[in-house]
Amino acid sequence: MKKLFIKTYGCQMNVYDSARMADLLAPHGYGLADAPEDADMVILNTCHIREKAAEKVYSELGRLKRIKQRKADEGGEMLIAVAGCVAQAEGKEIIARQPAVDIVVGPQSYQRLPELIAQVHRGTGRALETEFPAEDKFDSLPTEVSSEGPAAFLTVQEGCDKFCTFCVVPYTRGAEFSRPVSQIEDEARRLADRGVCEITLLGQNVNAYCGAGPDGEEWSLARLLHRLARIEGIRRLRYTTSHPRDMSDDLIAAHGEIEKLMPYLHLPIQSGSDRILHAMNRQHKADMYKKLVDRIRAVRSDLALSSDFIVGFPGETDADFESTMTLVRNVGYAQAFSFKYSPRPGTPAATQAKQIPEDVKDARLQALQALLSEQQRAFNTSCEGKTFDVLFEKPGRKHGQAVGRSPYLQPVHVEGAAHLMNRIHAVRIEAALSNSLKGALAERMSVCAP
Ligand code: 5AD
Ligand code: SF4
Repeated sequence: MKKLFIKTYGCQMNVYDSARMADLLAPHGYGLADAPEDADMVILNTCHIREKAAEKVYSELGRLKRIKQRKADEGGEMLIAVAGCVAQAEGKEIIARQPAVDIVVGPQSYQRLPELIAQVHRGTGRALETEFPAEDKFDSLPTEVSSEGPAAFLTVQEGCDKFCTFCVVPYTRGAEFSRPVSQIEDEARRLADRGVCEITLLGQNVNAYCGAGPDGEEWSLARLLHRLARIEGIRRLRYTTSHPRDMSDDLIAAHGEIEKLMPYLHLPIQSGSDRILHAMNRQHKADMYKKLVDRIRAVRSDLALSSDFIVGFPGETDADFESTMTLVRNVGYAQAFSFKYSPRPGTPAATQAKQIPEDVKDARLQALQALLSEQQRAFNTSCEGKTFDVLFEKPGRKHGQAVGRSPYLQPVHVEGAAHLMNRIHAVRIEAALSNSLKGALAERMSVCAP
């Protein structure tokens, strides 16, 4: 048995891809290793979204090179592969900069990994594969999906046609593509058979989903969700990440119609200033976003919101930044991600004049994060005394303790719940901690077991 170590950076789509790479290589004799030191092959599944994410890859490669050398000195072998978005964007540079790398493979072509490994073993040289092949990647991946735990990701859509001026995704992940409904349904059923009861549908623009339905028509994400909600073992559905422009009427309605659809939505806005939103090519205004949120809350009053924000986009004035702060105050978030603008090579905003100095970006990020943390704390505190269904996913640090997720994705720590692993059980929330909740098992019982 050979050993494989995969390190994953970035978004949940990379987490899904890493799991599929493990599935793909298992029939070729690779089992998972816990550390690169124990591995015959290491894959870095990389992220290119911000400069820092890409830099991390090169420093990790330096570390791996030394491990590889040590193994070679002892007569062993370790293949190094770089996958994901840095591979796609900087493939040739990686090959040139780091001689220890054997394989570079983009996110649309990792189904070819077994061939690429064979190529390296044949001694025909290092392998670089960053094409967007016309054939469907998903058709060539094994149908047998492994999963750990009761909650799983399922990629239904990939790529992006929106071309926000700061973002590398349309270049690294390519054009929008939706998997056919039947393929997704089969995968969801296989997950349910393995005991999975929560599925998060993934896509860079998941709500732009328009896959071929069994009736030959194009199905929307809402229609897909209705279909998946019929699968018996599946008790919870989520989807991420969405673009405000693609929140269609039927998807908004689905939040009121599908009980299994969790009342939590990640809906990135990036900025609260219409001027900046225009410069970002977001194709929506702050007011439209606010109205959208009101419409979803009208059908699902307990909806909790999350978002992404960028501060210090080129040309952002104090007044623009204040508009972002105002929007956050008006919408109210349960949780959010915020970043300093990072110029990415090849994107239009990177070469724009009026780049914002680092100290201004720092100050704005700090102010925004303080406000967002305050809102998160307030949201968590508002949960005290309420009873939620919690899906228990892993043991806690203390004996007998288990950690699960609330409908709003908050981690919930519960004592005396170790026997409830992989199950959903009602929990009364006793205290809000900074990033999680503490609760006790409640009377109402709801069981999720295969
Ligand atoms: N700089 C900073 N943040 C970025 N994001 C995407 N591109 C950049 C960039 N160049 C953020 C956006 C996006 C999230 C995944 O990452 O907020 O929604
Ligand atoms: Fe990037 Fe914009 Fe596409 Fe999201 S919608 S992936 S931010 S280009």
